[in-house]
Amino acid sequence: MQGVLRLVLFSLLLPPGSLLECETCSATSSNCTGSWEICENNLDSCAISLMVLSQGEKPYTTVEKGCYSFSNCSAGWILVTFGREKFIRQSVGCCQEQDCTLPQLPPINTTANGKRCPACYAAPHACPTAIVNCTGFENYCLGLTMHQHGGKAISLKGCTTELTCEELQAGEKAFLGVDVRGEKIDCRPASQTSSLSGSFLLCLLLMMVLL
Ligand SMILES: *[C@@H]1O[C@H](CO)[C@@H](O)[C@H](O)[C@H]1NC(C)=O
Ligand SMILES: *[C@@H]1O[C@H](CO)[C@@H](O)[C@H](O)[C@H]1NC(C)=O
Ligand SMILES: *[C@@H]1O[C@H](CO)[C@@H](O)[C@H](O)[C@H]1NC(C)=O
Ligand SMILES: *[C@@H]1O[C@H](CO)[C@@H](O)[C@H](O)[C@H]1NC(C)=O
Repeated sequence: MQGVLRLVLFSLLLPPGSLLECETCSATSSNCTGSWEICENNLDSCAISLMVLSQGEKPYTTVEKGCYSFSNCSAGWILVTFGREKFIRQSVGCCQEQDCTLPQLPPINTTANGKRCPACYAAPHACPTAIVNCTGFENYCLGLTMHQHGGKAISLKGCTTELTCEELQAGEKAFLGVDVRGEKIDCRPASQTSSLSGSFLLCLLLMMVLL
């Protein structure tokens, strides 16, 4: 909130026609340093995007800094879990010139929440669908197929948060380096796990015994 206010004040203070400069770089690490570049007219903010991909082993972090459109800035995180210690998490932080700091990602909550989702992540091959136990506040199932610049498809299914669904469906943010506008995004509340159907069966058995 404070950041947004500061940005609004900043743009009011900015004399018309003055040029915004943003540090521009990308790296497969958690930080990068690059040259300062003047933003094109329609790009009125700087941004840093941090993405962490884990496929069960060492997480792979990528960072990207550059000019961005302020109207697309939001505090939303993209959080998708597709297995045990398998996840994609992305945060984009908007900022002005010297004020840019790396965006934060929320701590990982590994407490199972009783929900389950089909899970897979594959680029570009077909994905064998497994089932993942959802954790934390990831109460939604996501199903997404995206097309990269070369036309290669990425399939992603897993547990996600309601906010991630809203972010992706708003389609204002590039995700995994892909513009998700026009891609098929399937988001729905996750159903309870078999522990519920298990207790349902138990009830049924009890009723049968009692009757
Ligand atoms: C990231 O790199 C920038 C230089 O571009 C540096 O000023 C900043 O302190 C670094 N941040 C962290 C968390 O290492
Ligand atoms: C999901 O949780 C259940 C217990 O609720 C467990 O039996 C199952 O092995 C878990 N599945 C995975 C893929 O971790
Ligand atoms: C972690 O997730 C569980 C299950 O949704 C929730 O009850 C708990 O409050 C969460 N913990 C934190 C620190 O957010
Ligand atoms: C920002 O949003 C506009 C529509 O409001 C869209 O045309 C543009 O591609 C978006 N930019 C990014 C980087 O996603």
